[in-house]
Amino acid sequence: MFSIIVATGKNSEIGQNNRLLCHLSDDLKRFKQITSGHTVLMGENTYLSLPVKPLPGRRNIVLTFDKSATYQGCEMAYSINEAIALCPAGEEVFIMGGASIYRQFFPLCNKLYITFMDAEFPQADVFFPEINYQEWDLTEEIFHPADDKHIYNFYYRTYVRKKKIDL
Ligand SMILES: NC(=O)c1ccc[n+]([C@@H]2O[C@H](COP(=O)([O-])OP(=O)(O)OC[C@H]3O[C@@H](n4cnc5c(N)ncnc54)[C@H](OP(=O)(O)O)[C@@H]3O)[C@@H](O)[C@H]2O)c1
Repeated sequence: MFSIIVATGKNSEIGQNNRLLCHLSDDLKRFKQITSGHTVLMGENTYLSLPVKPLPGRRNIVLTFDKSATYQGCEMAYSINEAIALCPAGEEVFIMGGASIYRQFFPLCNKLYITFMDAEFPQADVFFPEINYQEWDLTEEIFHPADDKHIYNFYYRTYVRKKKIDL
C-alpha cells in the first residue's frame, strides 16, 4: 500500500531551489519515526537534496530516467512500473517526494500524512497536487504551535482514501 508523506504550505508549496521550505525539527523527527523500518521511494532530485544519503534504517528506492545512475545503498528504478515492482506487496511504502513523484503516485496512494504549515512561501517553485477532500477522510489532526525551534504553527493531518485503490 502506498502512502504519501509531505509537508506543505498554505498554497500547496513544498520546495524551492531543490530544498525544503523550512526546518521544523519535530516534523523531521516524526518523519523518521513514521518511515523507519519501511521502504521509502523518492525522485532523484529529492535524493540529491538529502543531507544524509541514503536515509538510514529504511530501504531507499530512487527513481531516475538515467539508466547509468546508481547510488550506494539505494535501489534504483527507471520507471514507475519498475518502482512498483520493487515494493513489497501488503506493506506500507512511503512516497517521500518530490513534486513529480507525488504527482505520479498520488492516484495510487490510499493514505496521506500531511504536515500543513500555517505559512505562505511566495518563492516556492514546486507544489503538491490539488487534493479533492471529498475523496478523503481526515482520521487524525494534531496541532503543533510555533515555538523557539519551530517558526510556524503547523498541523499533522492524516487522510485515508474513502474508496481504496487496489493494486
Ligand atoms: N515538502 C516536502 O515534504 C518535500 C518532500 C520531498 C521533496 N521536496 C522538495 O521537492 C523538490 C524536488 O521535487 P522535483 O519534482 O523537482 O523532483 P523529484 O520528484 O524529487 O525528482 C524528479 C526526478 O525523478 C525522476 N523521475 C520522475 N519520474 C520518473 C519516472 N516515471 N521514471 C523514472 N524517473 C523518474 C527524474 O529524474 P531524471 O530526470 O534526473 O532522470 C526526475 O527529474 C525539492 O525542492 C525538494 O526539497 C519537498
